[in-house]
Amino acid sequence: MESIQNILNILKCPNCNRDLYIKDKGLKCDSGHFFDFSKQGYINLLLANMKKTKDPGDDETMAKARNAFLEAGYFERLRDQISQMYDFTNKIVLDAGCGIGYYTKDIADKAASTIGVDISKHAVKIAAKNDKKTFYIISSIFNLPIKDNSIDCILNIFAPKPQQEFQRVLKNDGVIIEVIPGENHLKEIKTDIYKQDAKPILEKFAFTDFDRTSSHKLTYMQNIHANDYENLLKMTPFWYNGGQKLLESLKAMQVTFDFVINIWRRK
Ligand SMILES: C[S@@+](CC[C@H](N)C(=O)[O-])C[C@H]1O[C@@H](n2cnc3c(N)ncnc32)[C@H](O)[C@@H]1O
Ligand SMILES: [Zn+2]
Repeated sequence: MESIQNILNILKCPNCNRDLYIKDKGLKCDSGHFFDFSKQGYINLLLANMKKTKDPGDDETMAKARNAFLEAGYFERLRDQISQMYDFTNKIVLDAGCGIGYYTKDIADKAASTIGVDISKHAVKIAAKNDKKTFYIISSIFNLPIKDNSIDCILNIFAPKPQQEFQRVLKNDGVIIEVIPGENHLKEIKTDIYKQDAKPILEKFAFTDFDRTSSHKLTYMQNIHANDYENLLKMTPFWYNGGQKLLESLKAMQVTFDFVINIWRRK
């Protein structure tokens, strides 16, 4: 991160859209709205009236499981592929739906500034603890506390896709790097759970106002260590869908990882 001032230049108050500045271990705007920095260094800009549930986004179990599974290295190839597909040097990067910041942290070493936004306080807490270079914010990505035309690159990895909001915050020549699951992603587990062929996930063209300028498929199989299965299941909806029972029958086995990485530019 170049400096906190570079980040503050592009943030805005979620309440009144005014500039934010540092005051008394928090951020303040000229209307008097104040937001505390947490002990870990992130800031909560999610207003109570924007919450649909008491504890939105990934819960604590999912966030911890995602952290443990990613730290075990199973998605390292995806992380490396992303960093090869775009030159992050001198760029202002927003990871929209950053989770525990696994990809954000990697980009933070290359970019000028990185901002990670997620609605899950549990995920952001872990991210901020693991990565001191990125500025982490709890917020909905459907209502970003970020000024218009200020971001060079949005990372959007297995996360919701608010097209209009991305359109608003991106610079004219800005890009979205999107990662979605390919049709064979975790197919062995899906087949076990649904007791039928895993249904292919159709590639969704969520960004209709953008041009897809490149697309890359990354597929590999990897042995999952028996101890890591629980985390893999817990970080997906499988856990609440028969996963707990399935876990008892699972032994170390090969699982398919299948990703599609798309780069989108404004039309
Ligand atoms: C499948 S996880 C992916 C996290 C991360 N990108 C990764 O790949 O490790 C989806 C994330 O989106 C977050 N999320 C869901 N709805 C959101 C919203 N409206 N605004 C911000 N984040 C949201 C969840 O809390 C969760 O961390
Ligand atoms: Zn304000």
